[in-house]
Amino acid sequence: MANIPKISFSRILFLLTLCITLFPNSALSALNLNPLQDFCVADLSRASPTNNGFPCKSQVSSEDFFYSGLNKPLNTSNPKGVAANSANFMTFPGLYTMGISMYNVALGVGGANPPHSHPGATEAGFVLEGSCLIGFLTTNYTLFSKVVRPGDMFVVPPGLIHYEMNVGKTQTRLLTVVTNDFPSEVVLPHTLFLAKPPIQNAVLMKAFKTDGKTINMLKSKFTN
Ligand SMILES: *[C@@H]1O[C@H](CO)[C@@H](O)[C@H](O)[C@H]1NC(C)=O
Ligand SMILES: *[C@@H]1O[C@H](CO)[C@@H](O)[C@H](O)[C@H]1NC(C)=O
Repeated sequence: MANIPKISFSRILFLLTLCITLFPNSALSALNLNPLQDFCVADLSRASPTNNGFPCKSQVSSEDFFYSGLNKPLNTSNPKGVAANSANFMTFPGLYTMGISMYNVALGVGGANPPHSHPGATEAGFVLEGSCLIGFLTTNYTLFSKVVRPGDMFVVPPGLIHYEMNVGKTQTRLLTVVTNDFPSEVVLPHTLFLAKPPIQNAVLMKAFKTDGKTINMLKSKFTN
């Protein structure tokens, strides 16, 4: 560590600005630096994710790069009618810093994943069984949607609001990938009506062009 040249903060800022100016489309990835090592299997026992990441395991084996948890049985008997097995770095530490995660999603008949987004991450999926209505919205409120069937693939551009609903008579199963090793999810109805502390009614009344009674009714529907 002794001979690392000192680079001033202003020099880093200059290089970052230059990078963003020369490659505007890679502005996001310029900030999300690619790892310098081949892999970094997260040692989940040694730090917390809020502490800016995990150290890499010092000893790795083949087992660290394989995962069998996606295939566990899924039970969609819940209010949304949706269940998923997740392979993100918390369940499969070999994915740490790899920028990708994978999901086995089941939607029961009529089940729906409410409008949500994954900040900064692209999602793609493949339909394994059943039929599913998938829609995403652009930033100018254009809806792109289609009913997809087994063998079909779909993509949701980075960060856009999207939803899925089983519109068939049998269970739907999707295999999806998201370009983040532990993507976050902004679920619109929950964010707006279940925030803690709650978003002030006056703000929501303006936003939804309605009265406080209606806002309270909506808030009462989101208790968890
Ligand atoms: C699925 O979950 C529901 C609700 O928790 C439960 O009643 C039911 O027994 C579960 N079904 C199976 C097959 O585990
Ligand atoms: C919104 O974006 C879509 C897709 O990029 C484009 O086709 C459409 O014309 C735009 N609509 C408006 C109202 O700007």
